Formats: sequence, C-alpha cells, structure tokens
Amino acid sequence: MYVCICNAVTESAIREAAAEGVCSMAELERRTGCAGSCGCCAEMAAQVLHESLAQQAPLLAIAA
Ligand code: FES
Repeated sequence: MYVCICNAVTESAIREAAAEGVCSMAELERRTGCAGSCGCCAEMAAQVLHESLAQQAPLLAIAA
C-alpha cells in the first residue's frame, strides 16, 4: 500500500527503512523522500515508522 503518493513510498518501504536503522521522520524523508512534498502522508508515515520500530524493540532486546 502506498503511504506517500507524491514520492511513491510504500508501507513496506517504510518498514524496510526502519529495519535498516531509520528511526525518525527526518531520516525517513532523507532516505525515501516520504513526506517531502505535500506532507499529507506525514502522520500515516510516522505511524507506520513507529509501529515498525516498536515491533523491532523486543528483537533488539534479545539480540543485546
Ligand atoms: S503524499 Fe507524501 S509528500 Fe505528498
């Protein structure tokens, strides 16, 4: 599903970015362009990013 129509950024691309260490909207925008145009997607993108990071947190605790 596309989250950012302006820059063709999908939900899975945001989840991949989170898995690769992106942990802020500024980083996500630099990496994917998400929310860098009209900004309409920013709230949804932030939600997907934060959900992805929250899902990774238990895995990081196990790996540490
Ligand atoms: S929909 Fe993402 S910047 Fe416009």
